[in-house]
Amino acid sequence: MNTYDRIPSREEAESILAAALEKNPGKWGAHSRNAAVSAEAIGWAAGLDPDRCYVSGLLHDIGRFKGQVQLAHIYHGWKYMDECGYPLIGRICLTHSFAMQKLTAYGGAFDLTAEQIEEMRAELESIVYDDYDRLIQLCDNISGASGIMRMEDRIADIAARYHHYPEEKRNRTLALVDYFNKKTGSDIYLLSCGGNTVDHY
Ligand SMILES: [Fe+2]
Repeated sequence: MNTYDRIPSREEAESILAAALEKNPGKWGAHSRNAAVSAEAIGWAAGLDPDRCYVSGLLHDIGRFKGQVQLAHIYHGWKYMDECGYPLIGRICLTHSFAMQKLTAYGGAFDLTAEQIEEMRAELESIVYDDYDRLIQLCDNISGASGIMRMEDRIADIAARYHHYPEEKRNRTLALVDYFNKKTGSDIYLLSCGGNTVDHY
């Protein structure tokens, strides 16, 4: 494994998340844990590395240590994980909100400098997505704070909060369910709920 491929252990990832939650407590912690558990289960069934899936899900929103930030949580998560020596996780922080690979598809406030926005745009558009990027995009959109939820409901919730959810982004995000159902030969909701349907969460 070269340095680019380093990822934190589960224990280290848990302590990184715990430290971030001390700075900015909130439901995003439970959401991140649900994303980690669902990513591990779906990723394992899709033939991906379960540890990498778990820590990617756990840390995808780590930029929220900065407080009540919107686009900035993506930027700061990317930079923070890069600084920690975990660029594969930094990349996940950057790509997780962009099933549609365009910065302008982001629904929240662009609470960054023009230079930071341009830096993000260039990096995002240079990435060729792999199944880890796609998996965390999927799990971000089925993981509520209370448990796994239907993607349609989560998208409706996000759209109501941000008053912006482009149709193309919605279609690309929903397509991830079919993509991973096919990859796993299973049902991503059953996998992520350990056999229970989402109606029981
Ligand atoms: Fe998230």
